[in-house]
Amino acid sequence: MSHALVVGGTGMLFAVSVELARRYDALTVVARRASRLETLRDAVGESARFHGAALDWGDDDALRSALDEAQEAYGPVELAVCWIHGSAPRAPRLVAERIAPARYVHVVGSAAGDPARVGDERRDAVASVEGIRYSQAILGFVVEGGRSRWLTDAEIAAGVLAAIDADDDPYVVGTIRPWSMRP
Ligand SMILES: NC(=O)c1ccc[n+]([C@@H]2O[C@H](COP(=O)([O-])OP(=O)(O)OC[C@H]3O[C@@H](n4cnc5c(N)ncnc54)[C@H](OP(=O)(O)O)[C@@H]3O)[C@@H](O)[C@H]2O)c1
Repeated sequence: MSHALVVGGTGMLFAVSVELARRYDALTVVARRASRLETLRDAVGESARFHGAALDWGDDDALRSALDEAQEAYGPVELAVCWIHGSAPRAPRLVAERIAPARYVHVVGSAAGDPARVGDERRDAVASVEGIRYSQAILGFVVEGGRSRWLTDAEIAAGVLAAIDADDDPYVVGTIRPWSMRP
C-alpha cells in the first residue's frame, strides 16, 4: 500500500494533504487539533485510508509511536512533507529516522533562502539520515507592482505540490530575490 505523511498538514498545507490522499493509498497527517484532523478526514473522503495523529510534534515519544503505528497499519511511508516550526528542533530529524528510507520534502520559511546564510542546520540534520532523499521547498514572497507580500495559503499549497513534482532542491515557492524586498 503506498503511504504518504504530512506533518503540519491541516493548516496552509490542507490542500496538499487532500491531493496526496488522491495520489496515495494511505495518508497520515500530524497536527495537534483533532477537530481540524476530522475536517481533513471529511475532505479526503474515500480517496485514501486516513490516519490523523493528534499530537504535539515537540513530544518525541508521541511522535515516534504515532509514526510507528501508522507504518504498522499502512506500510512504510514513501513520501513525507514536513512543515515543522523552529520551536520543535528535534522533530524534523526524528521523523526522518522513523521513516527512512523515504523521500522527504522539508517545507521551510524564507530565512532558509537568505543569501547571507552560511549553512542550514535544519537541512544537515535531516539530509544526513541514511536512506532519506531530501529536498527543501522554501516559502518565499511575491513581488508585484514594485511592492512585496507574503504568499497566500493557496499559493503555498500549489507551490509545495509543484516542489513535490519538480523534485528540485531547493525549490523556491514565489521568490527570494531581491532579498532586500522581503516583506
Ligand atoms: N513565506 C510565506 O509567505 C509564509 C511562510 C510561512 C507561513 N506563512 C503564512 O503564515 C500562516 C501561519 O503559519 P502557520 O505555521 O501557523 O501555519 P499553518 O500551516 O496554518 O499551521 C501549522 C500546521 O502545523 C500544525 N501544528 C502547529 N503546531 C503544532 C505542534 N506543536 N504540534 C503538531 N502540529 C502542529 C497545525 O495544526 P494544529 O494547530 O492543530 O496543531 C497546522 O496543521 C500560514 O497560513 C501562511 O499563510 C507564509
